[in-house]
Order: sequence, then C-alpha cells, then structure tokens
Amino acid sequence: MWGAEAAPGGPRARPRPLPLAWLLALHAGLLAGVNITSPTPLVRGTAGKAALLSVRYASASTDKPVVKWQLKRDKPVTVVQSIGTEIIGNLRPDYRDRIRVLENGSLLISPLQLSDEGAYEVEVSITDDTFTGEKTINLTVDIPISKPQVLVASSTVLELSEFFTLNCSHENGTKPTYTWLKDGRPLSNDSRLLLSPDQKILTITRVLMADDDVYSCLVENPISHGRSVPVKLTVYRRSSLYIILSTGGIFLLVTLVTVCACWKPSKKYGQG
Ligand SMILES: *[C@@H]1O[C@H](CO)[C@@H](O)[C@H](O)[C@H]1NC(C)=O
Ligand SMILES: *[C@@H]1O[C@H](CO)[C@@H](O)[C@H](O)[C@H]1NC(C)=O
Ligand SMILES: *[C@@H]1O[C@H](CO)[C@@H](O)[C@H](O)[C@H]1NC(C)=O
Ligand SMILES: *[C@@H]1O[C@H](CO)[C@@H](O)[C@H](O)[C@H]1NC(C)=O
Ligand SMILES: *[C@@H]1O[C@H](CO)[C@@H](O)[C@H](O)[C@H]1NC(C)=O
Ligand SMILES: *[C@@H]1O[C@H](CO)[C@@H](O)[C@H](O)[C@H]1NC(C)=O
Repeated sequence: MWGAEAAPGGPRARPRPLPLAWLLALHAGLLAGVNITSPTPLVRGTAGKAALLSVRYASASTDKPVVKWQLKRDKPVTVVQSIGTEIIGNLRPDYRDRIRVLENGSLLISPLQLSDEGAYEVEVSITDDTFTGEKTINLTVDIPISKPQVLVASSTVLELSEFFTLNCSHENGTKPTYTWLKDGRPLSNDSRLLLSPDQKILTITRVLMADDDVYSCLVENPISHGRSVPVKLTVYRRSSLYIILSTGGIFLLVTLVTVCACWKPSKKYGQG
C-alpha cells in the first residue's frame, strides 16, 4: 500500500521544490518587508488647522523604524526624517514647529499653510527588513467659503432688457465652484441664460417675464459650502411702464390737489 502510493506521488513531487522554494522566499520577503496601511488616501485640510496624514506600519522586527516623509514636487522636498518619533537633524524653516511624527509613522502638520497642499510619500524602513514600505497620501489645504452674496444692479428690470447680470460674490474661500439656483433649482448654460466660464456671473441676455423669480448662488470647495440669501428679481412688462407712468400722473394730480386744498385755508388763516 505505501509503496503503491509513493510510486505515483514520487514523480508528482519532483517538480514541487521549485514553486515551493519560490513561495517560501516570497513569504519570507513579505514577512521581512514593512507593510504600511493608511485609512485615508486623501486628507482635506483647513488652513490654520491641523492635518493628520495617518498611517500604520507592520513589521516582524521590533526595532525602531526610520520614517521619511517627502512632498512630491518636480524636485521632491524632504519634509522630515525620523527614527521612531525622534526627528533627525533640523527641519526646513517653513516646517519648524509645525511637524511631528507619531509612534505609528503618521505625520501631523499643524497649523496648515496653503503651500502644504500636495502628494506626500512616506517610506518606513527597519534595519533588519529587506524591503521598505511606501505609501502616498494626498493633502488639500483650503480656506472655508464665507457666505456669498448676489450682487445685482437693481432688483427690478424691464421686460426685454438686454444683458442683465447677477454676480455671485464672496469674501473668502479657495478653489470656489459656483452654482446658480433659480427658485432653488440649478441653472445650466443655455442660449438666453449665460454662465461665465467659472459660472460666477449669470447673464440674462434678454429678460422675459419667466425670469421673474428668486435667485441664489451656491459656492463650494473641498471643505465647505455657502449659499447666498435668495434675491427676488421683479420683471415689469413693457406695457406696464405706461400704467406706472399714468398711475404716477394721477398720483401727482391728487397730490397737487391735496396740497392746494391744504395750502389755501392755511394762507387764509395766516392772513386773517
Ligand atoms: C499589508 O497589510 C494589509 C492589512 O493588514 C493586508 O491586507 C496586506 O495583505 C498586507 N500586505 C502585505 C504585502 O503583507
Ligand atoms: C493624488 O494626487 C495625484 C496627483 O497629484 C493623483 O494622480 C491621484 O489620483 C491622487 N490620489 C487620490 C487618492 O486622490
Ligand atoms: C496613528 O496614531 C494616531 C495617534 O495615536 C492615530 O490617531 C491614528 O489613527 C493612527 N493611524 C492609524 C492608521 O492607525
Ligand atoms: C462681481 O462682484 C465683485 C465683488 O464686488 C467685483 O469685484 C466684480 O468686478 C463683479 N463682477 C462683475 C462682472 O460685475
Ligand atoms: C475673510 O478673511 C479675513 C482674514 O482672515 C477675515 O478678517 C474676514 O473676517 C473674513 N471675512 C468673512 C466674511 O468671513
Ligand atoms: C456658457 O456658454 C457661453 C457661450 O456659449 C460660453 O462662453 C461659456 O463659457 C459657457 N459657460 C459655461 C460654464 O460652460
């Protein structure tokens, strides 16, 4: 029985040593390498606040790791190098007092500057290990959007007026994207309602009665958004111009009559 089983097993077992050795080597390599994981490949930071570029490393070794964080630019900038949490050498002046390396290799930047935005690469190496671990985390830095305002030359407009513009303005905020809302619904570029390329300015090329509505604008960036107070645009019919004028005329007449009526007795009283 043993012999019978060994016989067919023998020829089959012969090619095994090669893949097995390869597998073992691969396994050993994985164990010897540093494995870095990061929960957030993209961190959205706010200028003046802190950002944690969070990583964790796993290694078979208990030695302290050498951690190197680099900012990827045309010419990469070394942000910091450390052994464990101990920073090696001096930090560049623009990083002084703003950088910490945490126990797990994470990079803490506080306070953030707009120039900190970019892709950060971390390398963790441990003396005994043959491979170093690498990971890249993207960081955006923004200033929150302050409340936008709709700026219009006038809140009333005559039907068939040409090129009436609404301007969405806000004091602060980086990377703004604009959306115009008519009665709460987003407007898209069409032949009569033109959005500027950045969508900041809405131009009604020829005002129609249908444009009599409430308008607001929405401004967004990676960390915040703001919405303006809705502005009511009143469109008057061309024909109503005459009504206004004639109503105005009657009003003027009534006023004059009233003034005369009041003025006469008072003058009489003054004379008497
Ligand atoms: C690294 O760790 C993650 C999570 O623990 C695991 O899924 C992955 O297989 C590991 N990679 C290597 C190369 O060991
Ligand atoms: C990080 O930024 C690079 C460009 O700098 C981009 O190619 C990559 O897709 C970004 N990754 C994430 C997770 O946002
Ligand atoms: C690394 O350590 C910091 C501080 O203890 C923690 O906030 C963060 O979540 C850790 N990162 C990971 C990926 O575990
Ligand atoms: C929009 O408003 C801003 C802020 O008042 C101003 O600087 C800009 O010139 C205006 N643009 C137009 C097209 O009216
Ligand atoms: C805009 O930013 C400046 C400087 O940080 C600040 O003084 C001002 O109050 C901000 N304006 C608004 C509307 O938040
Ligand atoms: C809207 O259309 C006009 C004219 O066709 C064009 O100049 C403008 O860039 C467009 N705006 C957007 C946001 O696509």
